[in-house]
Amino acid sequence: MEDLVVVGGGVIGLSCAWRAAQAGWHVTLRDPAPASGSSWVAGGMLAPVTEAWPGEEGLLELGLSSLELWPGFAEELSAAAGQPAGLHPEGTVVAATGSGDRAELDALATHLARLGRPVERLSGRELRRLEPGLGPDVRGGLSVPGDLSVDNRALLAALRAAAEKAGVAVVERAWAPGETADDAAGTVLICAGAHSASLHPGLAGLVRPVKGEILRLTHRHGAFPVPTRTVRALVDGRPVYLVPRPGGLVVGATQSEHGFDTEPTVGGVRDLLRDAERILPGIAEYTLAEAAAGLRPGSPDNVPVLGRLDGRTLVATGHSRNGILLAPLTARLVVGLLEGGSVPATVDPARFGRTGT
Ligand code: GLY
Repeated sequence: MEDLVVVGGGVIGLSCAWRAAQAGWHVTLRDPAPASGSSWVAGGMLAPVTEAWPGEEGLLELGLSSLELWPGFAEELSAAAGQPAGLHPEGTVVAATGSGDRAELDALATHLARLGRPVERLSGRELRRLEPGLGPDVRGGLSVPGDLSVDNRALLAALRAAAEKAGVAVVERAWAPGETADDAAGTVLICAGAHSASLHPGLAGLVRPVKGEILRLTHRHGAFPVPTRTVRALVDGRPVYLVPRPGGLVVGATQSEHGFDTEPTVGGVRDLLRDAERILPGIAEYTLAEAAAGLRPGSPDNVPVLGRLDGRTLVATGHSRNGILLAPLTARLVVGLLEGGSVPATVDPARFGRTGT
């Protein structure tokens, strides 16, 4: 049995460790605090269409391929872990308030139609028929039933349980480049998210932390019910999303670059609550249960950095806004690499001309 050390115990590291162990590798996962960090903070949207931006067609293709894998991945994971993987099978509605927001959603719908991914345009009244909690400021939007969500914390628990049942040894200790061959025999797979850049010279400057503040709200007795679907919105040009969870909602997310700062700010919490309340006024009666910030692992083109760095080191990081969505596809591509295969040029770190260092 060949040895693999997976560095990083977020959704990407745990998914790769689980799948590699299933494929017959002797896997050790190294992380001082597995199942924490940005994977713990995340909103859990599986939303390639509603996260699509013109110019990021390669990312949309990857996201759609991974979304297709999600139902089977979640079913297999729940069975292997003996606990739910947290997949929420309801879709997404996108809401716009002012005329500028509606024009932007129209542009997104036109762009998606050009790519052969038509979405349904709805009036404010039609949207409220789907999600009665949407407020009167919502004037129109889109329905995207295929964009789903997952409870990221249930997912992390299931992944850790399934990985350990498959034989992965989880060692709660940091890994550093240059550890002796005894400590890290065989192949090393770097999945350390925003912290990956310092772990290999080939990643220096390729992965950077992109801060996102996120709130968790709990439904209180008598308050307006939690929406069934994910609600994304543009409020005077600012994006906000509300993702249903059992008994509450996740509200996200700000986006800024402040190094490795993970402190939620008053301004970030204020902006999220103000915009979320414009969309779903009933949340004023919910409890504000948590404010947290995570670090998305940003890459120069927002596409993952996934492939071989040198004869002994592989990498799967740089998933930017899409780590949870891309976990099943990432794990599949990593197992393919371990078995001697290659990865699409769009994700290969060689596209930056930096490998082999
Ligand atoms: N995928 C949502 C976010 O990064 O905020």
